[in-house]
Amino acid sequence: MKILVTGGAGYIGSHTCVELLEEGYEVVIVDNLYNASEKAVERIREITGKTLTFYRADIRDYEAMNGIFAKEKPDTVIHFAGLKAVGESVDKPLEYYENNIAGTLCLCRAMRENGCKNIIFSSSATVYGDPAVIPITEECPKGVCTNPYGWTKHMLEQILTDLHTADASWNVILLRYFNPIGAHKSGMIGEDPKGIPNNLLPYVAQVAIGKLPCIGVFGNDYDTPDGTGVRDYIHVVDLAKGHVKAINKIKENPGIKIYNLGTGIGYSVLDVIKAFSKACKKELPYEIKERRAGDIAVCYADAALAKEELGWEAQYGIQEMCEDSWRWQSQNPNGYEG
Ligand code: NAD
Ligand code: UD1
Repeated sequence: MKILVTGGAGYIGSHTCVELLEEGYEVVIVDNLYNASEKAVERIREITGKTLTFYRADIRDYEAMNGIFAKEKPDTVIHFAGLKAVGESVDKPLEYYENNIAGTLCLCRAMRENGCKNIIFSSSATVYGDPAVIPITEECPKGVCTNPYGWTKHMLEQILTDLHTADASWNVILLRYFNPIGAHKSGMIGEDPKGIPNNLLPYVAQVAIGKLPCIGVFGNDYDTPDGTGVRDYIHVVDLAKGHVKAINKIKENPGIKIYNLGTGIGYSVLDVIKAFSKACKKELPYEIKERRAGDIAVCYADAALAKEELGWEAQYGIQEMCEDSWRWQSQNPNGYEG
């Protein structure tokens, strides 16, 4: 079975390609390398000892996509490609809507044209907004997003749902990720953010390696056990395995399905700093700052549905996530560039 992975050179995509190859799937990556390096593709090959096909192409380029689908004839698409920086999306809404929404429309047109109607889509817990219930089940109503990035996920979920409504031969699985962190055990692939990281884990990792002086903790007056924000951090390899399980599901022609991919456990910012300090064997300096605009206090998943219907459950805990993230960071202090 052949899987076309858009954004397969990126952080979650590269880990998913490793798991797919290990499970015996054929893999075709389409990535424009806007936020990735071709070295990640080489490393996927090294880790697995398997071959894969890589196209440097933009999902908005219909001619290119049509040609790739006609030639490769994949059975299913896992669609990671997109822009994902929340703050940047506020400054560049057009670029975000253009890349994420127009890109996905173009991808789906090329899929339809070539008779490929199975898609697994990277959505996010961000679609729940400030969640109405904790832990968050898939039934929890979608909320109001605080930024264009979040709206692209919100809207794309609707667009893909409408696609299935109009033509029931489409199978669509929407995977709502919680907070992916960590890296492959080999330390050869991992998250490689450009510039100063916005997310907690890459920031902490860069303080640990000495590139940044001090972690800023965004608020300690939330209604949480230690006052700092609580999130459901999930090991990227667990997340990647969730995609392999979703492919098994898509083979059953399930129509439209939505699953949370999280551990069901919430950790605070201070818990994470503590676990990372233990992993890198040094105290990490931090200071309490103002709350960050748009942040919520608590967000963690009810992951029961994925367990029941996909037979998937996260295996790794916070300590291993931090150890694996540290191994990647310390072996590749400059990411794929050095
Ligand atoms: P990433 O930036 O590492 O990967 C995205 C990949 O898509 C990159 O390799 C980039 O070069 C590629 N890309 C972007 N626009 C493209 C285009 N027009 N054509 C072809 N390739 C293009 O991000 P990631 O963390 O691996 O995230 C993957 C997906 O998961 C994204 O859709 C993201 O929004 C979603 N997601 C991520 C998180 C997270 O915390 N990382 C959480 C929830 C959802
Ligand atoms: C953020 C996005 C979310 C996106 C997700 C992808 C925002 C508001 N939300 O989620 O839409 O899907 O990333 O990974 O940006 N924190 C600090 N100091 C830091 C960075 C973060 O204290 O330097 C805190 C935050 O306040 C939060 C927690 O750490 O409580 C996690 O933050 P982050 O990693 O940015 O993820 P989210 O905000 O959950």
